Amino acid sequence: MMLEGKRILLGVTGSIAAYKAAYLVRELVRAGADVRVLLSPGAREFVTPLTFSTLSKHPVVSDFTSDREAGIWNNHVDMALWADLMLIAPLSANTLAKMAAAQSDNLLLATYMSVRCPVMVAPAMDHDMYMHPGTRANLDILRSYGHTILEPAEGELASGLYGKGRMGEPEDIFRAVVDHFHPRLPLRGMQALVTAGPTFERLDPVRFIGNFSTGKMGFALARSLADAGAEVQLVTGPVQLTMSHPLVQVTRVESALEMLQAVQSHAQAQIMVFAAAVADYRPAKRAEVKMKRSADDLNLQLVPNPDIAATMGASRQPGQVLVGFALETDGGEEQARAKLERKNLDLVVLNSLQEEGAGFGGDTNKITLFWRDNRSASFGLKPKSAVAQDIVNEIVKLLPA
Ligand code: CTP
Repeated sequence: MMLEGKRILLGVTGSIAAYKAAYLVRELVRAGADVRVLLSPGAREFVTPLTFSTLSKHPVVSDFTSDREAGIWNNHVDMALWADLMLIAPLSANTLAKMAAAQSDNLLLATYMSVRCPVMVAPAMDHDMYMHPGTRANLDILRSYGHTILEPAEGELASGLYGKGRMGEPEDIFRAVVDHFHPRLPLRGMQALVTAGPTFERLDPVRFIGNFSTGKMGFALARSLADAGAEVQLVTGPVQLTMSHPLVQVTRVESALEMLQAVQSHAQAQIMVFAAAVADYRPAKRAEVKMKRSADDLNLQLVPNPDIAATMGASRQPGQVLVGFALETDGGEEQARAKLERKNLDLVVLNSLQEEGAGFGGDTNKITLFWRDNRSASFGLKPKSAVAQDIVNEIVKLLPA
């Protein structure tokens, strides 16, 4: 996980954007971070400690003492020294001013003044407050300390006014945190598309033509690409799998035609990996009511489906990297090379159903890669997550420098 073991102190201050911090905590925790939340007194007007303690799985503190009678003292120095990163999101104009003036009249501020780790802030306030010379001067002071300012976005504000001041979206702040910890992720800022799973081609309201693909390889690839920093669109046919990764967006489709349409709407992606087992044919007619049994033979007429990989290969943009799969029941080297040419791809991943532990359903795979320059390389039997990592390493090498 991208933020495994990273200790993040999240300060939440009194702003209407405080609710967005809840999404942020969830994403950070999902990515493996250890998150402790500090609420300013003002934040408690907008959000409850319970929301944040539930999401962060740690108690949330906002005062120097959490139980006066029992004498429980929340030690801001311990908390400050614990953190690898202090993030204040949203940062209100008031807390900003106090930070700039080195005031420490609450636990959040005292902790801020005690940290030795990097500090990132995401200001959120009304447009005029944001544009006020005092706010600009305060932000300049924070900048001069080396803090990172995550600029607010332009848009409609809670006041009804339009302008700059709205806190950045949680996913953008999340990305900034990941970038902070991994400044050199190889696919940072790139867009990738992955197809996964089978397609179902309907015969009537209750029947379809499909295949045994489970989507595991495609899902593992989507995760590896996202772990390498890419923003991934995962277009999947009907599968049982779920995906929760802040950089992966899932589109669920049923048929090959739907899959093609979803893929074409992300045609700008620099990386495309076609891991879906797309049905080559669909029924020529789809019955509106359930087909009835009869004593006669039944002949189904099938028509070819579009080849999604070949379609994208035919219209490829300079600099794109396109990767396909070949699943063969016999040897397959020739077929793999033929698919590379015919579909205009850069790399074909062959998995042979002859190999024990390879192909559909299982958690392992054994692959051979084929490149356009006639090179090929065989890999050992590995978990699909490790196979995905091997493929992503090769994709990185294929991208233009
Ligand atoms: N593919 C696709 N759209 C299709 C069929 C295949 O995008 N309609 C993609 C698959 O995702 C895979 C590659 O093409 O990356 C090869 O799929 P495969 O089924 O092995 O190849 P076909 O072209 O269908 O060839 P054949 O069935 O004759 O082996």
